[in-house]
Amino acid sequence: MKPDKKARAAAAPATRIARLRALLERYNYRYHALDDPEVPDAEYDRLMLELRAMESAHPELITPDSPTQRVGAAPSAAFAAVRHRMAMLSLDNAFTEEEVRDFDRRIRERFPQLAEIAYSAEPKLDGLAFSATYEHGLYVRGATRGDGETGEDVTQNLKTIAALPLRLRTDAPPRVLEVRGEVFMPFAGFRRFNHEAAARGEKILVNPRNAAAGSLRQLDPRITAARPLDLFIYGIGHVEGGDLPQHHGRMLQVLKSWGFKICPLVRAAKSIDECLAYYSEMGASRSGLPYQIDGVVYKVDDLEMQRQLGFVSRAPRWALAHKFPAEEALTTVRDVEFQVGRTGTLTPVARLEPVFVGGVTVSNATLHNMDELNRKDIRIGDTVVIRRAGDVIPEVVRVIAERRPAGAKLVVMPSVCPECGNPVVREAEQAAARCTGGRSCPAQRREEIRHFASRRALNIQGLGDKLIDQLVDANLVRTPADLFDLQTAQLAALERMGEKSAQKLHAAIAASRQTTLPRFLYALGIRDVGEATALALALHFRDLEPLRRADQAEIQKVQDVGPAVAEHVVAYVHDADNGALLDRLIGAGIGWPPIAAPAQGEFDGKSFVLTGTLESLTRDAAHDAIAARGGKVTGSVSKKTHYLVAGADPGSKLAKAEELGITVLDEKAFLEMLAR
Ligand code: IVH
Repeated sequence: MKPDKKARAAAAPATRIARLRALLERYNYRYHALDDPEVPDAEYDRLMLELRAMESAHPELITPDSPTQRVGAAPSAAFAAVRHRMAMLSLDNAFTEEEVRDFDRRIRERFPQLAEIAYSAEPKLDGLAFSATYEHGLYVRGATRGDGETGEDVTQNLKTIAALPLRLRTDAPPRVLEVRGEVFMPFAGFRRFNHEAAARGEKILVNPRNAAAGSLRQLDPRITAARPLDLFIYGIGHVEGGDLPQHHGRMLQVLKSWGFKICPLVRAAKSIDECLAYYSEMGASRSGLPYQIDGVVYKVDDLEMQRQLGFVSRAPRWALAHKFPAEEALTTVRDVEFQVGRTGTLTPVARLEPVFVGGVTVSNATLHNMDELNRKDIRIGDTVVIRRAGDVIPEVVRVIAERRPAGAKLVVMPSVCPECGNPVVREAEQAAARCTGGRSCPAQRREEIRHFASRRALNIQGLGDKLIDQLVDANLVRTPADLFDLQTAQLAALERMGEKSAQKLHAAIAASRQTTLPRFLYALGIRDVGEATALALALHFRDLEPLRRADQAEIQKVQDVGPAVAEHVVAYVHDADNGALLDRLIGAGIGWPPIAAPAQGEFDGKSFVLTGTLESLTRDAAHDAIAARGGKVTGSVSKKTHYLVAGADPGSKLAKAEELGITVLDEKAFLEMLAR
């Protein structure tokens, strides 16, 4: 090739990659910071798949701020300590109006020339405080609050949260900018996560705050990435070589324009009365918020006044947390019933003597699974402490043992399904018991359709729980495929449905047919196939038909898919009813853009082992690059290994490979082979 031709051939992927990154960054910003999505989720997913495919074909073009690089760092043995440039302080708490007015009075005494103080009023988010540092506009470090002076380095973990910009959206970023905010787990994600954990018989996360803290402080960033975390920025720790407005509210607006996600409920309050009105308003609406808040925070808006007010011990004089009353109450357990989920899992639910807690009357509480129930030793008739966190299903915290009545009844798992009467089985070493009815069980049918239509699956807008109940109860829909046969007139005949909304729903169902393969596989609701597994299956098989033909051994070759998951996938695709369902779904016109074929050549069918640290790409990127070219990566060196890729500080694998006479590639040779 002539040099100019060669340069052009290399430039084309680089240009496309840059274009894809710019688009993905923009869509991400519109989605998270502006809460105003520009394109459907499926389009975002499609571009991300294309970028991943291009980067795995050209790993030399991967940069740390690429949207694909949010996940990929290797687990670490421990977190390094990060000393905060400015201590991360806590806030003084107030519980009464009097305490709030005292706070305002103390500030007015310092500024007698002002009749009223202007504040920023904002929700007190119930998660984990963090700081994120940007140098020349690029994200370089993330830390937890720790003891306020020193925190833990969670750079990689924080990077997995899509709402955190990796690059600031400004041409003139400050030289150094450290922002501060709160990482939290929204209720929906918290519920979904616990639901799936309970079904797998794993430990339940206690509440959204512990869930956020536990998720961010995982040594393996891939675990953090799989947790549904979100964040808001609420302030600045440090800025150098750049100017920001001198008022808190306006500064947050500038941060928002730079790509940060700011809580939309932050409000300017002209006086302490407006702050108190804000508190009442938030108290009334908190149960409808998608995330947990435990109060509101008032901050003096003028940053110069903040500086003059300063600190007392560990808290600023210019800010106050006005807390909501605790959300725990005592009640008694009237009965325990069992709810049937999508894959047949039976979840025990406590029916309670109704009690007013956190602004609503609660009469049900989830008990997660039999192991949790037994651990807490909950019996019918017991007096229990229940806790309600926002709109999360309330839960039983503990039993008041000394109030147990003589006749308290032990809870036993039913032997037949309460919904369909089919036998219930409990598999060895699983916490969950399951109904064996499959689609003959109305509860399983309902839940299968709910999952299929849900936001992260086919995202059928307007198809809510109540409508699904009606469709299933009227037997209009037995499987997800039936959705696509529904006529507008049938929809219009449902309760609370007009002609207009029926048309809209019909159009939404039709539109959902254009999707991506990972979403489609996730939507099927195969046991233990979450979003990450669906993506891995899609990248490996690249279409539905090869997956349908695959046996368990083939499926186990997929990255991170173990024997149990592979067994569920095989059982699903080889089941006759599911086969008919898949045929009907495809027949109904469900489709996705093709996933690019890996290049043929030197890698085809060859087995690679990786050892040591590669400088220019992560382990996962190297893995993907080999897989994309038809090669296979295994964990240990054997006679069947074709190549050992050895980075810096190789382990014992190098000696073993040399002993067996296996070709060893250093990083340079490996990159050349990838580029050929
Ligand atoms: S400002 C010096 N704003 O509350 C001011 N904090 O008790 C420090 N928090 O560790 C924080 N929402 O984790 C601020 N809107 C908000 C907040 C907030 C939640 C947390 C934060 C901090 C704790 C202080």
